[in-house]
Amino acid sequence: MSKLSVIAGKSSEDLAKKVSKKIKADFVKSGIRIFADGESKITLNGKISERKAIVIQSIHPPVDTNLVQTLSLISKAKEISSEVIAVIPYMGYARQDREFLPGEIVTMKVLGKLFKCAGASKIIAVDIHSMIGFKHFKIKAKNVSAIPELVEYIKKMKLKNPLVISPDQGGKDRAQEFAKKLGSNYIALEKKRDRKTGKVQIKTKNVDVENRDLILVDDMISTGGSIIKATQFLKKQECEKIYVACTHALLMNDAERKIKRAGVTKIISANTIPGKTSIVDISNTIVKAI
Ligand code: R5P
Repeated sequence: MSKLSVIAGKSSEDLAKKVSKKIKADFVKSGIRIFADGESKITLNGKISERKAIVIQSIHPPVDTNLVQTLSLISKAKEISSEVIAVIPYMGYARQDREFLPGEIVTMKVLGKLFKCAGASKIIAVDIHSMIGFKHFKIKAKNVSAIPELVEYIKKMKLKNPLVISPDQGGKDRAQEFAKKLGSNYIALEKKRDRKTGKVQIKTKNVDVENRDLILVDDMISTGGSIIKATQFLKKQECEKIYVACTHALLMNDAERKIKRAGVTKIISANTIPGKTSIVDISNTIVKAI
């Protein structure tokens, strides 16, 4: 048996397989049966190393189900392995890292306790929504970025005088980093989100994007609301084509169709979440972090 095992959660099986191959670890698959009441019955298919186990599982929808499965895998791994690393390519709940409105529960605090208690000694995430989330974790926490790989993909597309756009001020640093790697420039729009309804509005009035291809860059797309509003605004500004590059494409309900209808030519995302748009592989980045 190898000194290293990769335990693949069902939601990240392909990515875990890639990582496992690259680090020459034993690959342990998990079989899942969902009971009629929603409970997960998990069965591991393979032996876990006594030295080190790496659990790989994204916490994307169904978020709570994938979270419980992740914690269960970590807990089982810790019964056998002396060290357990949790690789969470998409860290669900990361947007709930502070109390925005009075009375709101900071769920990332709860997750911090749960991951430690389950037995993880280190957690690695890809483009976590904000590093504030990891401040609630009392174990080693590392964030790695999919931006270099996303940029490499975009470079090959040979866009016309590209301009990087963040749909909001919160994503300004991300857009700046993206633009620097791409060798172009960037702007960050002013977005306002109603904290009660979740509805977004673009407050920016004018931008100079004429005759340029645009790349809207974000950490994640959930409902598509942010990207759709930004696209509708940019389309009125006489730009050329609009592309979207994001790490985590959740694309809830029919977000993809709505985004395309708003005028986006192509959505490019990383394989932190499996899906049609997840064409950028970030397994090398995860391997480096491990
Ligand atoms: C917000 O600050 C995030 O960076 C994303 O822009 C947001 O979570 C995307 O959500 P949605 O697609 O629902 O607008």
